[in-house]
Amino acid sequence: MCYRKMQLWTLIFACVHVYVRAEDFPSLITANASLAVVLDRQHLGEKFQPVLDELRDYIKELARVELKHGGVVVHYYSWTTISLKKGFLAVFSLASCEDTWSLFSRTQDEELLLFALTEVDCPRLPSNSAITVTYMDPGEELPQILLDLRIARAFKWKSAVILHDDTLNRDMVSRAVRSLTSQTDNNDVPSVTVTVFKMKHEVNEYLRRKEIHRVLSKLPVKRIGENFIAIVTTDVMSTLSETARDLGMTHTQAQWLYVISNTNMHNGNLSHLINALYEGENIAYFYNITEDRPECQYDMTCYAHEMMNAFISALDAAVQEELDVAAQVSDEEWEAIRPTKLQRRNMLLKHMQQHIAVNSRCGNCSAWRALAADTWGATYRDHADNILATAAPTSNDTTGVIEHFELLDVGYWRPVDGFKQTDVLFPHVEHGFRGKELPIVTYHNPPWTILQANESGSIISHSGLIFDIVNQLAKNKNFTIKLLLPSNVKQDFSNETSTDMMHSQSAMLTLVAVAKGQAALAAAAFTIVSDPNPGINYTIPVTTQPYSFMIARPRDLSRALLFMLPFTTDTWLCLGFAVILMGPTLFVIHRLSPYYEAMGVTRQGGLSTIHNCLWYIYGALLQQGGMYLPRADSGRLVVGTWWLVVLVVVTTYSGNLVAFLTFPKQEVPVTTVSELIENSAIYTWSINKGSYLETELKNSDEPKYIALLKGAELTTGISGIEGHFGSGSSLLQRVRTQRHVLVDWRLRLSYLMRADYLATDTCDFALSSEEFLDEQVAMIVPTGSPYLNFTVVG
Ligand SMILES: *[C@@H]1O[C@H](CO)[C@@H](O)[C@H](O)[C@H]1NC(C)=O
Ligand SMILES: *[C@@H]1O[C@H](CO)[C@@H](O)[C@H](O)[C@H]1NC(C)=O
Ligand SMILES: *[C@@H]1O[C@H](CO)[C@@H](O)[C@H](O)[C@H]1NC(C)=O
Ligand SMILES: *[C@@H]1O[C@H](CO)[C@@H](O)[C@H](O)[C@H]1NC(C)=O
Ligand SMILES: *[C@@H]1O[C@H](CO)[C@@H](O)[C@H](O)[C@H]1NC(C)=O
Ligand SMILES: *[C@@H]1O[C@H](CO)[C@@H](O)[C@H](O)[C@H]1NC(C)=O
Ligand SMILES: *[C@@H]1O[C@H](CO)[C@@H](O)[C@H](O)[C@H]1NC(C)=O
Ligand SMILES: *[C@@H]1O[C@H](CO)[C@@H](O)[C@H](O)[C@H]1NC(C)=O
Ligand SMILES: *[C@@H]1O[C@H](CO)[C@@H](O)[C@H](O)[C@H]1NC(C)=O
Repeated sequence: MCYRKMQLWTLIFACVHVYVRAEDFPSLITANASLAVVLDRQHLGEKFQPVLDELRDYIKELARVELKHGGVVVHYYSWTTISLKKGFLAVFSLASCEDTWSLFSRTQDEELLLFALTEVDCPRLPSNSAITVTYMDPGEELPQILLDLRIARAFKWKSAVILHDDTLNRDMVSRAVRSLTSQTDNNDVPSVTVTVFKMKHEVNEYLRRKEIHRVLSKLPVKRIGENFIAIVTTDVMSTLSETARDLGMTHTQAQWLYVISNTNMHNGNLSHLINALYEGENIAYFYNITEDRPECQYDMTCYAHEMMNAFISALDAAVQEELDVAAQVSDEEWEAIRPTKLQRRNMLLKHMQQHIAVNSRCGNCSAWRALAADTWGATYRDHADNILATAAPTSNDTTGVIEHFELLDVGYWRPVDGFKQTDVLFPHVEHGFRGKELPIVTYHNPPWTILQANESGSIISHSGLIFDIVNQLAKNKNFTIKLLLPSNVKQDFSNETSTDMMHSQSAMLTLVAVAKGQAALAAAAFTIVSDPNPGINYTIPVTTQPYSFMIARPRDLSRALLFMLPFTTDTWLCLGFAVILMGPTLFVIHRLSPYYEAMGVTRQGGLSTIHNCLWYIYGALLQQGGMYLPRADSGRLVVGTWWLVVLVVVTTYSGNLVAFLTFPKQEVPVTTVSELIENSAIYTWSINKGSYLETELKNSDEPKYIALLKGAELTTGISGIEGHFGSGSSLLQRVRTQRHVLVDWRLRLSYLMRADYLATDTCDFALSSEEFLDEQVAMIVPTGSPYLNFTVVG
């Protein structure tokens, strides 16, 4: 009894509950789904009545046959501004583009599913909340394709250049432009600035080339950007791509989308139609693979039926699923877990999209395929071994033509579901080299490149300044590094820096390998010279190294004559003269004074001879008093004045002497090239033979550089490396002891100084304060490498 009561209560409770919930959104189990069908009378015009009748019959029949569970209530409207608060499950609309979008914004508020059939050139509704099908006659699809590409964000361009010829009519051009430039209600899709250029369609190959050349060479690419959409036929495509290549317009920053309309299902193997692809290009093809079959249907009712089929199928599946779940759980539980409005919409949407993708037949004759050329790094694909043979049998062709090019299938278009993207349209713009392996030739040359090998000679690690840069490049441009070593040179993995980067055998072989195009890049430091080897280009400088010279540290001057130092020679001379002058002066004044006669004092001894006067003045200078002093005022005045002079001179001298004793004086240092040249009698200096410095000095017409080269000893570069940099090396000894000067990179000299300091624990050398002649160091790439500008921007 009690049990039954409870069941009853539960039942009542459930009913009340369902009733309350049913107000906003009924479960598919308890109520039949209701669908709003909006056929816009204005849009359809006189077709309205036949379409309505036909569709009504079709849905009735469809629901009877296909819907196995529950039913569907269909409400028909002939305008789009309907009230949506009637508990609809979904809305189907057949209206103009504008009305479809305004209807969409309202279904979005109500979280309803909208599947819309609308006119051509309409931006599709977001595919995560609605379904849009645009219907069109065959041959009219081009603007819609461009619009769909833009909506799908297949290209993220701010500007585009459309190139076309007479085969595209005016109306189509303006529609194509509108589809790129129009504002959409979807804010994620910015509009594209478009410039249109028209070419005459010439049947004759020669004239066509001339015409295309005329148009392309005048394009102001600086202003209009380098994203091209060429809407052309196949023959124009090959001429256009060749001409663009000749004009250097297919570099790594430019993007070319060829839209080719005159292909079809049967002649549609595009790889036959492409003459050549070159390294570093960004080219995508969008081409017509439309099939002309009599059973192809393009009309509106076909699409409407198909969408209804999809909806009924989705509805049936949804009801089935809800029934299945509800059967397994209690009513309360079901209320708790049943799908929300949004979940149900998404489920229906997904099901419908799948159904359409698989079963759609309408307009599926009309289809386009997107291909992307995989060009970056493709010419380096065939390098297998990682030792460069000196006479490698690879082609000595560095023009970058790809022998076996690959086209990536990146997408598919048809009217029903628009552009289905399977990969990005411009893979290299998005993903750089797409993780390809690039051959990079290098050799051991610290501190630029530091390689380490294990016992069997395989390189196990690479580092150094150049590799820091290359690794960063690899990260930015998405490639992996395959190291190649110049083959028959025994690599010397010591930690010593080489003095000569340009003339070692490894450097030569590297140059040759790069010039032959066997590697994408040489990860090695090369000095930028004004007349480079043919076949190579420098990247931007990795570093700039100024030259400087190293000289022995100025020594303390000897203290032997220290007492002389406080006064300069002039002062000493003046002082001597003063003493010599003062003696006779004193004598004369003493002699002529009438005082002694008047007072009757005899002038005895002392100052009565010149000789004694001189001694007296000298003695006063050394602050030794004399035995006799003049008694006359005139004489005393002279002597007193002299004492004052002595006071000043002696005080100055003593002060300076103390200073000189405290701070030992050093040699005058040589810190600039001019000073070095001035002191060429004392100093000798040496320059590396064959170095950049030597060449530059030779070419210089500045007198000081000419003198610098003339006075220099040229040490032989390569053979001089051995022992060049040990602290005991002869050159270093000469600098230390024999007033020799070493002219080289400031960096290298500092390195040397440090090494010497560590070895001997004394600091014997000094660098010049002047830096002269910057030497720029860069990596090298083959001439005409499309990736040269990466080292600038990347
Ligand atoms: C649902 O539709 C079916 C068939 O169209 C009908 O038999 C049934 O009465 C309807 N149920 C409700 C609750 O309207
Ligand atoms: C695509 O090819 C079909 C069949 O060749 C043709 O009818 C249609 O006009 C082409 N599309 C365009 C946009 O030219
Ligand atoms: C196109 O031709 C190439 C080479 O002849 C062939 O490998 C490829 O399978 C063809 N593609 C199609 C879609 O027929
Ligand atoms: C178009 O539909 C037909 C069936 O009518 C089917 O055989 C064909 O594979 C479809 N084509 C495409 C490209 O899906
Ligand atoms: C490379 O160039 C040399 C001489 O310039 C020529 O003899 C050789 O045939 C070329 N090799 C290839 C593969 O083109
Ligand atoms: C590198 O290329 C791979 C292969 O295309 C791609 O999956 C990956 O996303 C790319 N990485 C970057 C950072 O672009
Ligand atoms: C050296 O490294 C290579 C490649 O990593 C490896 O195959 C080889 O066994 C190593 N040799 C020794 C002696 O470790
Ligand atoms: C080079 O330097 C590294 C670390 O400073 C040291 O481990 C290595 O033994 C040195 N190699 C030679 C050949 O001196
Ligand atoms: C690359 O080298 C070639 C020949 O040496 C030269 O003509 C060209 O200007 C160089 N390119 C750049 C960007 O420096």
